[in-house]
This record gives sequence, structure tokens and C-alpha cells, in this order.
Amino acid sequence: MTASIIDGRSIAKEIRKQVKQRVKELQTQPGLAVVLVGVDPASKIYVKNKIKACEEVGFHSEVRRLDENATLGEVLEAVQELNHDPKVHGIIVQLPLPKQIDKNLIIDAILPYKDADGFSPINLGSMFADDNRLVPATPKGIITLIKSTNQELAGKHAVILGRSPHVGKAVATLLLQENCTVTICHSKTAQLESITKRADILVAAVGKPKMITEEMVKPGAIVIDVGINQVYDTLVGDVDFEEVKKVAGFITPVPGGVGPMTIASLLENTLICLALQRDMK
Ligand code: GUN
Repeated sequence: MTASIIDGRSIAKEIRKQVKQRVKELQTQPGLAVVLVGVDPASKIYVKNKIKACEEVGFHSEVRRLDENATLGEVLEAVQELNHDPKVHGIIVQLPLPKQIDKNLIIDAILPYKDADGFSPINLGSMFADDNRLVPATPKGIITLIKSTNQELAGKHAVILGRSPHVGKAVATLLLQENCTVTICHSKTAQLESITKRADILVAAVGKPKMITEEMVKPGAIVIDVGINQVYDTLVGDVDFEEVKKVAGFITPVPGGVGPMTIASLLENTLICLALQRDMK
């Protein structure tokens, strides 16, 4: 058996097309601002791709660049300015931040209805209360990819590797809402293989190149690879794609799986931010 490839690129393209159409119908041009602090090379590429996607769908977009040595006060000031800017409906602060900046304080400063990443405690808390108005972009994209397989999700065993608040815990919450039975594994999990082997849906978000091997996967499983690991000159996921595709039922590639979905979901979230702000007027 060879797995069907879940084509994140084409699903994301379709979402971007729908967003572009929506922008044409709106009276207000949606705006997304990105705060980029420092010189992290991966962050620079992610931000460039986000801005390109904004331009493609007709959003206003802007990047606030701050120096690697910026103070907490300076980053907070940039966020506050964007909070008050009527052209900006969604704000994201690209992570990671330099070590002198407390990420939680910065995320807390973004107005919840401008929080296009869905990272603020208010929006994460709402999601835990089954109110999905602004869901983090990567988990939102992952659920779309899983649903694209048209498999029944209720009653399925979903195993998530990774417990970060913005990916692992959020995906777990969303899959619980789909009536999956959810297990979250992490670096201290014992007998990992015996757990992953029982997963109907396996989501790997650990940042370890090719750590999921063929022996760890249940035949027919839906395998979602969130990892983006640079190994020499190439990007590889957390899943050993060539091996695992021999047993899985469905699998996402890296690149071309979850990555494009994060950006597409971010655009969708910006439209939601705009609608929330319009509703408040
Ligand atoms: N760094 C890596 N992924 C993300 C993301 O989705 N949002 C933000 N703000 N930073 C990131």
C-alpha cells in the first residue's frame, strides 16, 4: 500500500483564492501587520512568504522591523501602535523573539480581536471553551488537511507528538472537538512506539528530522508532519516520508504540506479579525 499524498499546496491555493474573492466583495481592505524582531534567518523567510501571500490576495500589509537588541518597551510600543492603527486588522509577532523579550508579555499586549495568530490567552482560552473564533493558524490548517481526507473522525484515536501551546495542545483540543480520542506525547513519554502504532491519526510536531519511522505507524493511518527541519541544504519533516508512505493511508509532504496551510489560515484569520472589528462598531 502506498499512502495518498495530502497536497497542502493546492488546498492552500484554493483557500487563498476564496480569500481573494472575499477581499473583492469587502468595502474595507483587510490589513495584516507583522512585527519582526532580530535577524533569525528562518523568521525572515516566513515573514517574506506571509507578506507575499497578503499582497497576492489584496491585503494591506506591513512589517515593523526591530533590532535584535530591541527592548521589551520598544516591542510593546510597536504592538500598541498597531493596536491603534485602523488600517491594521490583524497583528502577528513573529516567533522566536530574542531572549531579552518575554514572549508572553508581547502576545498579551495584542488586542484579542487583532490577534491573527490566535496566540493570546483569551483566544486560546476561548478555543478550550469550544469557541473557535480565532484558532492558531497551524492547527487550523492541520484540521483542514485531516478533513480533506474525507475520513470519519469521530471515535478515531489521534496521537499528537509535541505539547506546545500553539501547536500540539491546540491540535489536540480541535481533534477532541471532532470527537477523536486524543493522546499527547512528548519528550518524556515512555514506550512511544507502542502509542504511535495505535494512532489512526498521527500528528508529529517535535522538530526532530525523520524521527517517525515506518515501524511507528499503524497501516492506513493519516500522518501529518508539522516539522520543518533544515538538514544541510534541504528541508525535512519529523516523518521519514519515503518509508512511512509505504504504510500510511494518507501523508503530508515537507515542504508542501502543513507550511502553506499556516499562511492560508493566517489570511482567513485576518478576515475574521476584520469581521470582529466591524461587528464592534
Ligand atoms: N514562528 C513559527 N511559526 C510561527 C507562527 O505561526 N506565528 C508566529 N507569530 N511565529 C511563528
